[in-house]
Amino acid sequence: MGSSTSIPIVPIASDRVFIITGANTGIGYEIAKWCAMMGATVILACRSEDRAKKAMETMQEEFTTEKAKGTKGITESPSLAIEFMKLDLASFQSVVDFCEEFKKSGRQLHVLFCNAGLGFCPYKKSGDGLEMMLQVNYLSHFIIIAKLLSIMRRSGPDCRIVLTSSSFHKKGTFDVATMNYTGNAANFPDRNYYGRSKLYQVMQAIAMSRRLKDSNVTINSMHPGFVDSELFRDLDRGIARCCFCCFRTCGVMKSTLNGATTGIDLATNPKHAGVSGHYWVDCKITTPCSTSRDEQKQEMLWKETFPFIRKYLTDEEMADLEGKSKNRL
Ligand SMILES: NC(=O)c1ccc[n+]([C@@H]2O[C@H](COP(=O)([O-])OP(=O)(O)OC[C@H]3O[C@@H](n4cnc5c(N)ncnc54)[C@H](OP(=O)(O)O)[C@@H]3O)[C@@H](O)[C@H]2O)c1
Repeated sequence: MGSSTSIPIVPIASDRVFIITGANTGIGYEIAKWCAMMGATVILACRSEDRAKKAMETMQEEFTTEKAKGTKGITESPSLAIEFMKLDLASFQSVVDFCEEFKKSGRQLHVLFCNAGLGFCPYKKSGDGLEMMLQVNYLSHFIIIAKLLSIMRRSGPDCRIVLTSSSFHKKGTFDVATMNYTGNAANFPDRNYYGRSKLYQVMQAIAMSRRLKDSNVTINSMHPGFVDSELFRDLDRGIARCCFCCFRTCGVMKSTLNGATTGIDLATNPKHAGVSGHYWVDCKITTPCSTSRDEQKQEMLWKETFPFIRKYLTDEEMADLEGKSKNRL
């Protein structure tokens, strides 16, 4: 165990490939760094090459520091196996290109960590015409999962998908008819739509775990805690910004490292192999809200998601999602 962290460090073979979205900062940064320090090959899937490359440099420096401190269990390699791949979740074309490039590499995929997210942002429409948090937090990650699932199915035992959701999923309304906000931008209920996007992730993990039953791939969602990251960068309105500053100074918020612990545990801990369809908080299975546990609603969400993304998925990928692909091993 290292002196600076309570993360359970498990050795990971360097041929285990992890993709972590939004790994250049915040919770994703710590998840990527620690998984790489345990030995995994980690792909930082980020929208800014510049920010990702700076993050990779810092990761290498922090790795050197951990080694100098004598942190036990981290890789003996001279440097971390970390790489950048371009991914802008606000563009479906970028998501498709990212998946195609990964497929072309011929690599296996053992952990897909859907972590990137936007929080509480004012109404923004993506280039694809959709409300931004719906697209970035939920739909784009859904496409990545659908497109890379066949690779994960062929990557050997114990492959894992983890979705960074939030306890805020409890604040999201379940109303599939208004999934994509089309009202007046000035009246946009940002907290509710952030909550919705996180609710969809909890529901997706449960619905998909049914489809992945008895396979080599698990899927779980998790809440990292209230974390002092850049997530609230758009929170520029009076009282909310004031409260946020108070929380920060009072030490109510977790560090990004503490916020990453549940994710690192879910991605790496051998004792979670085969455990699927759960919502995790503080490294423990926790009960999400009753709406998210409603199977009929999960299936309704599943069905209503496809009108937004169907044109980006092949018939084969659709069949694979349902566990009905002809090419399955
Ligand atoms: N912080 C909390 O208290 C908290 C609580 C519950 C759940 N969460 C969840 O934790 C996850 C990580 O958030 P965080 O707190 O670490 O926030 P963060 O510091 O703001 O990190 C968010 C990451 O997502 C990336 N991202 C945003 N839009 C993107 C896009 N269009 N394409 C690709 N990447 C994009 C960001 O990239 P850029 O640097 O380029 O913007 C950044 O790497 C999110 O899903 C969030 O909802 C956070």
